[in-house]
Amino acid sequence: MNMMNPDISLSDEIPADETQRQYYYIEKARMYVQRASLSAGRPLTFCVTTFGCQMNARDSEKLRGILREIGYMEASEEQADFVIFNTCTVRENANTRVYGRLGQLKPRKKKNPHMMIGLCGCMMQEPEVVEKLKRSYGFVDIIFGTHNIFKFAELIAMRYETGRRVIDIWKDTDQIVENLPNQRKYSFKSGVNIMFGCNNFCSYCIVPYVRGRERSREPQAILDEIKRLAKDGVVEVMLLGQNVNSYGKTLEHPMTFAQLLTEIESVEGIERIRFMTSHPKDLSDELIEVMSRSHKICKHLHLPVQSGSSRILQKMNRHYTKEQYLDLVNRIRSAVPDISLTTDIIVGFPGETEEDFQETLDIVRKVQYDSAFTFIYSKRTGTPAAAMENQVPEDVVKDRFNRLLNEVQTIAAKTCAVHQDTVQTVLTESVCDHDASMVTGRLSNNLLVHFPGSADLIGKLVPVYLAECKGFYYLGRLAE
Ligand code: 5AD
Ligand code: SF4
Repeated sequence: MNMMNPDISLSDEIPADETQRQYYYIEKARMYVQRASLSAGRPLTFCVTTFGCQMNARDSEKLRGILREIGYMEASEEQADFVIFNTCTVRENANTRVYGRLGQLKPRKKKNPHMMIGLCGCMMQEPEVVEKLKRSYGFVDIIFGTHNIFKFAELIAMRYETGRRVIDIWKDTDQIVENLPNQRKYSFKSGVNIMFGCNNFCSYCIVPYVRGRERSREPQAILDEIKRLAKDGVVEVMLLGQNVNSYGKTLEHPMTFAQLLTEIESVEGIERIRFMTSHPKDLSDELIEVMSRSHKICKHLHLPVQSGSSRILQKMNRHYTKEQYLDLVNRIRSAVPDISLTTDIIVGFPGETEEDFQETLDIVRKVQYDSAFTFIYSKRTGTPAAAMENQVPEDVVKDRFNRLLNEVQTIAAKTCAVHQDTVQTVLTESVCDHDASMVTGRLSNNLLVHFPGSADLIGKLVPVYLAECKGFYYLGRLAE
């Protein structure tokens, strides 16, 4: 728990400071939840379901922290009285899934008088979505967006107080509210937001519209949080932002991402530092330098390429060419030879020809990625690409997608195998899903390894001999 709970009484005036104000509403919501539990004759339960990226996963931890604080207990989605969907809208199918899941909740709500449904996250920042929800999903209780999740307790209190649906969507914000509760999924590792929003406007991407303008957290707030986490037993942090390489540009006293990393490196107790996502156009030589010197920054870089065709990259508004990307990869590899590189690739961007697609296959072969997330282009209303001509027919895109996936998987299996018969430091993360006599851990380069061991290894860094490569993961054993 990341708690700085000020002493607040409901008979006081509502505090002006935003953090304190939210603790006031946490108190208030706790009172309502207590009453509702009494009338139900049992504790009320919640479930937060996350769609989408690591940013959303981190936001969900904040929602869980608040729900715990106000007296809800965690349960499975099937059992929960309060179900919250933290939504994603980066591709159309993410939206479709949310509507499907909502439909399933409706009959449950009719039967359970204590049931509440909350919707938040990126999808709620789209006005058409909120209109549709108002029109056809009247049973949803609370709707809010990405800019005001810190107000969750206040919105819950308001829902209880008025007995009516609460909708609160902000267009944008420059506010960053620190020190609210959160409930981490893992005891030994944690995501840490270092910045919010995105200013890049890649022409296919809806994120800048739903997450707002780029703003960085103050370095001191980040360091304080990481020090608290380290004291709490966290050994690995994942620094989160849509474009971490442009960290610090908007601060009153600007600082670079590389400088921030150097400061984080000095926090005692933190053994591993990860970050995502990097934009190739902003990845500096200073960062490469810091990575090559560091003992804590993991040997893994997620560097979305999106396409191998310079012509398409330009239409995507990515601000680099195929050659510049390859040159960057060379510079990174010369400085950090054993680094693992992963990427995101979109197939079927408007106007993509077979020649453009061949360029994508070519860059994949040249870089030899350790793994790649491949996506079929999804048309997002309001983005420049949605209005472009020559949208590629579905069957052509599917065929390209399959060919790309095949290439990516063949290469990934090959690059994974190079670690065979080495001993690597592994952070043990969990008991193995398939075999309770084994545990699962992660290498610095992000590969997974299963090895015989028990739950007391969880959260510990141990040397593991990588005995057998299984394509995308290893089987191993503890080394002496
Ligand atoms: N269609 C398909 N993929 C997309 N991404 C972002 N927007 C779209 C879209 N409209 C992918 C990009 C990005 C990843 C998070 O999602 O590859 O890096
Ligand atoms: Fe979207 Fe581009 Fe921003 Fe990434 S950098 S969130 S792809 S606009």
